[in-house]
Amino acid sequence: MAIPVKLWQTEIVKVTQAILPVAGLGTRFLPWTKVVPKELLPLGSQPIIAHLVDECLAAGVNDICFVINRGKELIPQYFYADPALEAELRRRGKHHPLEQLKRYDDVNFHVVYQEEQRGDGHAILQAKDWVKDELVAVLFGDDLIVGSDAGLLQLIRAYGHVATPHSAMLCLENIPREHVSKYGIVDVDEKESKGRLKKVKGLVEKPSPDEAPSTLGIVGKYLIPRGTFHVLPEVKGGHGGEIRLIDALIAQLPHTPIYGYEVEGKRLDTGTPEGYKEAVKILG
Ligand code: UTP
Repeated sequence: MAIPVKLWQTEIVKVTQAILPVAGLGTRFLPWTKVVPKELLPLGSQPIIAHLVDECLAAGVNDICFVINRGKELIPQYFYADPALEAELRRRGKHHPLEQLKRYDDVNFHVVYQEEQRGDGHAILQAKDWVKDELVAVLFGDDLIVGSDAGLLQLIRAYGHVATPHSAMLCLENIPREHVSKYGIVDVDEKESKGRLKKVKGLVEKPSPDEAPSTLGIVGKYLIPRGTFHVLPEVKGGHGGEIRLIDALIAQLPHTPIYGYEVEGKRLDTGTPEGYKEAVKILG
């Protein structure tokens, strides 16, 4: 995995940081989420959030910022080193679990708080001062790609084909038209698009099936330029003044090239009980 990452992490495409906003209340999983964050539900041999962190590592990104709310400290804690436990496992000769614990030793984790749930864009904004690069990855906790390369790696590779620096890149999936009203949908400039790489000329949040400009929906993964952090405080388009990432991207569209990549592989939406059950069937 390291070789293709090095090829794509070039001077033009340098993504070293990822923001993982996980400050939502997870109401669809209540009462479970009253005490356990939905991101810590098991999927295969690890919690959902560890799949997201592994996705970052597979793309050569090992500077990770969790945006959490009070009460979700278990999420970063899962990744922190526990020297006492490691010493005990070593003493007992339990090498396999020890290796599992040590795989995050070289990752830099950072935590910021979102004190009020004021939208996904507001969550990202809390990480503004932590971002040092011109381009940062944003991965929401619910969407996983299986059966192909990690979703973030696909986005970074696609970015390598985009000539303009400071562009944004969105992860896209072809959604059945009857479900488009659950997604941000892109309007594609076909002349400027090639294969899975799409040039975006418009964005609509949750359109009705009749009004959707396409059936390509944004699925929880982005590369955003630093400029997005300047626009986010200006947009308050959502319910009750929520700050939404899509509104910032809409505001940026006239002067910032925005691309989308129709991701390869199967997407799992672990953010709903039905989607989570489906994911468990596939990943165990
Ligand atoms: P959702 O809209 O799915 O909300 O957030 P939720 O709280 O996770 O779940 P429900 O709807 O109550 O069941 C999408 C993503 O945005 C993050 C969530 O953690 C999730 O990863 N988010 C959303 C925040 O971090 N802060 C917010 O204010 C809103």
